[in-house]
Amino acid sequence: MKGVILAGGTGTRLAPLTKLVNKHLLPAGKFPMIHYAVAKLASAGIEEILLVIGKQSAGLFIDYLGSGKPWGVRLTYRIQEEAGGIAQGLSLAEGFVAPGEKMVVLLGDNLFEGDLSPFVGQFARQEQGAMVMLKEADDLHRYGVPVFLRDSIIFIEEKPSTPKSGYCVTGVYMYDAGVFDRIRQVRPSQRGELEITDVNNMYAMEGKLQYGVLTGWWTDAGTFASLREAGEKLSDGRGGPS
Ligand code: DAU
Repeated sequence: MKGVILAGGTGTRLAPLTKLVNKHLLPAGKFPMIHYAVAKLASAGIEEILLVIGKQSAGLFIDYLGSGKPWGVRLTYRIQEEAGGIAQGLSLAEGFVAPGEKMVVLLGDNLFEGDLSPFVGQFARQEQGAMVMLKEADDLHRYGVPVFLRDSIIFIEEKPSTPKSGYCVTGVYMYDAGVFDRIRQVRPSQRGELEITDVNNMYAMEGKLQYGVLTGWWTDAGTFASLREAGEKLSDGRGGPS
């Protein structure tokens, strides 16, 4: 299975720091944020990883990660010219992920403690479709939130004012290569982006969206408060590189 890490975007909620450097290079605990996504995929047995980055700080990603050798992985880089949304960033993985292959996708600002290996194994056995990783959360209006019918996700609402469950959809996704055809059908949202939630909802409507629940702590380190919280958790060694 291939890995894709999305580390583009504008990082406006972390401005003015992100005027100087891409969000995923800011420190979280002892390492730049991007370190953890690579380490998580490596420890789940993913050896070939595509890193989608913006033009800003592109050279710094390479300075830090290089070929991926210290993590035992092979890294490929692609540039997302504009922050056109998570799904638009993921579309750049077409070709890197061949038809018939599967992929694990991480949003580079998602930091978490749990091990992905069991879920990657489960998805490898899933015949087709997609899997999203969920986590119980309080500030649900910031996230995609699943709507369940019995035990199945029938729909995901992006940043709902009235969440219909106590879970958020984290930035950990797994897809078959059919995701690229689905992305082509997505139209820009009100914020002008190709939304990954719209892609996930296509799988949900086809009855092909499975889910798992992350163990341990999880945070989206896209704000100063959540970045500080993640830094504290990572400093005490929980969720650090294995
Ligand atoms: O963190 C989980 C949440 O991430 C999910 O619950 C939401 O459903 C999902 O839409 C997403 O929400 P955000 O609004 O927080 O996404 P954001 O725009 O902050 O981007 C998250 C990551 O994706 C970040 O690490 C940068 C990367 N990204 C984002 C955009 C818009 C890209 O690589 N390219 C992009 O164009």
